[in-house]
Amino acid sequence: MIIYFTGTGNSRFVAGRIAAATSDKLFDSALCIRKGEGADFTEPGDYVFVAPVYAAAPPLVFLDFIRRSRFPGDCHAYFVMVCAGSMGASPVYCRRAAEEKGLLYAGTAKVDMPQNYTAYFDVGTSSGNRRIIRAARPVIDGIASCIRGGRELPDLCVKMWMRVLTPLVLRPYYRFFVSAKQFRTNDRCVGCGKCTSLCPLNNIVMKERRPVWGSSCTHCMACINLCPADAIEYGRRTEGKRRYHGPDSLCMRKS
Ligand SMILES: Cc1cc2nc3c(=O)[nH]c(=O)nc-3n(C[C@H](O)[C@H](O)[C@H](O)COP(=O)(O)O)c2cc1C
Repeated sequence: MIIYFTGTGNSRFVAGRIAAATSDKLFDSALCIRKGEGADFTEPGDYVFVAPVYAAAPPLVFLDFIRRSRFPGDCHAYFVMVCAGSMGASPVYCRRAAEEKGLLYAGTAKVDMPQNYTAYFDVGTSSGNRRIIRAARPVIDGIASCIRGGRELPDLCVKMWMRVLTPLVLRPYYRFFVSAKQFRTNDRCVGCGKCTSLCPLNNIVMKERRPVWGSSCTHCMACINLCPADAIEYGRRTEGKRRYHGPDSLCMRKS
């Protein structure tokens, strides 16, 4: 079973490619996260968790979903962190999440995919992003081959300063930076409502044909990047800046 969380589709792309190689089922954790619930997994076999890296760690909503879920005993737990260069202290959090659930930790791998944090960083050009995704494919295939062969993922060392620093900055980061307060629409908004269905936290509702953001944002950047009209801004800092429209928009050939 491959369980994923995604904002802009990179992690779904990675999870889908692993599933194609291992013939595992895919499960979108947002189906439960939207309801604030965990899931009751009963299938024996390996569990593969795929998620983006947020501030050097897995998204707290995803860790919370794992914590609330139930798993059968004696199953291996593989973690695949999808990032834009650094997965920081993620393996520390992944190991802890597995151990808390009685799963047999089988390692954390990293896949570099395009940057999607539009609110704070410049996202790449289409051609640059295509190149990144092309380079990610053999990495994903190597991970899938490990999983299919029942081997542990090679251990990636987490530097001591990263282990110490991440827990210190993570809570303040979520408290002071992660909020939907700065999201707004520009005059390109046609009130289509697509943002409401894109939000993995059900945090957007339509009022008078305009999106209104609630208080449970995790900064996944799905709304701002995947809006078909590029009609969402984050304060003033995203005005005139490129959006990342996700791997599907780049029309990547399958290979
Ligand atoms: C809130 C937030 C925090 C992020 N923090 C990191 C980070 O610490 N390291 C990193 O390499 N990429 C970071 N990124 C980039 C994403 O991890 C990366 O673009 C990922 O592929 C997005 O996956 P998704 O499309 O499945 O949401 C961050 C992105 C967001 C939105």
